[in-house]
Amino acid sequence: MDCDGENAHAAAAAYLAWHADNGVDLGIGHAPCDWFAEPTPSREPRSSASTRSDRAAAPSAPGSPAVTAAAPSVPAPRSSAAKRTRATPDDALAEAQAIAAAAPDLATLEAGLAAFDGCALKATAKSLCFGRGAENPALMVIGEAPGREEDIAGAPFVGPAGKLLDKMLAAIGQDGATTYVTNLVYWRPPGNRSPTPEEAMVCRPFLDRQIELLRPHVVLILGRPAANTLLETTQSIMKMRGKWAELRAGGHTCDAVASLHPAYLLRTPLAKRSAWRDLQAVQARLTGVAGDTGDAGEGNKS
Ligand code: URA
Repeated sequence: MDCDGENAHAAAAAYLAWHADNGVDLGIGHAPCDWFAEPTPSREPRSSASTRSDRAAAPSAPGSPAVTAAAPSVPAPRSSAAKRTRATPDDALAEAQAIAAAAPDLATLEAGLAAFDGCALKATAKSLCFGRGAENPALMVIGEAPGREEDIAGAPFVGPAGKLLDKMLAAIGQDGATTYVTNLVYWRPPGNRSPTPEEAMVCRPFLDRQIELLRPHVVLILGRPAANTLLETTQSIMKMRGKWAELRAGGHTCDAVASLHPAYLLRTPLAKRSAWRDLQAVQARLTGVAGDTGDAGEGNKS
């Protein structure tokens, strides 16, 4: 390589390293795009009259053999013409609620979610990570958001945190035959950031319907973002963990408890002691014993 070539190479490497250090781990286009620009007035207004005829049946999600076609009763997402008209958060939420409410089973719900364009995370993620595990679970685990490995695999909790989660569950006698695992949001946030409240809000109708269809006895919520959203508090996870609450999702009500996220446990092995107490409480609750953690919510950490 000549001197100019070496300089260009070093400049490109520095440019990429700067982006990687700032959490950018994928490119989505060659030309810059102003995502905040107001849409130009659409020649194809999204009117209520257009919604029915514009809407195609929701396609089957990849890997969902049970879904051959979306049930006719499931409102299909807006057509590509309509998608060009930027939906407001309220539109997107209303659309999510309609799709979720009309889904009679998990496969239809997944297909509806796969065709839903109202969550901005979908634009940068590779895959939809809907859920994995038993379809009649005693225990449902809800984490924060898919990470890199999950985005590649299209399934939640398959990376290092997921492997630790599986070991934790095995320690209380739970596995994929008794447990269902999913996340607060279904697509990987860029750079593994936490989901925004708006992203969590627009995914929530799908999550509520997922809980309602699965009807778990106990929900274990992992990490602060999921716990704050689902238990409607702003407390730190250290204050919330180990305290039982009632979780209502549509017509289903069950016991729920928050605990420490396995990704945090990987970084902070000493915290495994508290997580283990929470897991034991979950096990006790599942077997019908009272199941309080004893040290629930340390209450003195932020
Ligand atoms: N962390 C999560 O919260 N969910 C996953 O699926 C993986 C890592």
